[in-house]
Amino acid sequence: MQYSAKVLEHFRNPRNMGQIEDPDGVGEVGNPICGDVMKLYVKIDDEKIADVKFETFGCAAAIATSSMVTEMVMGKPIDEALKISARAVAQALDGLPPIKMHCSNLAADALKAAIKDYRSKKSAAAASK
Ligand code: FES
Repeated sequence: MQYSAKVLEHFRNPRNMGQIEDPDGVGEVGNPICGDVMKLYVKIDDEKIADVKFETFGCAAAIATSSMVTEMVMGKPIDEALKISARAVAQALDGLPPIKMHCSNLAADALKAAIKDYRSKKSAAAASK
């Protein structure tokens, strides 16, 4: 199996790995195909992603796609971030081996889950005012 140079580079030097204390949203997803897990934390400011970090318990492709998705969304409006697909993340890494394509779902799904979490917390806070 051949990983691209970009996948290997992000795997060896993952960007934005770790936790955010007091995040505005957290998304945790498991990959039903392999059981790997990713947790993604976001800090939102003025409906933009002010900070994003991840913790991934998974394969090299899962770590590289997690790292790449954090770079792709940093500073972006959340509506734009939501449009980022698993395929777009894989393409940004110059592709993944076909049997590893499912790994890119983890990052895209965790991002969507974290934004959904932020939005549901925000609407709950607005409702309690
Ligand atoms: Fe599980 Fe890649 S093998 S995410």
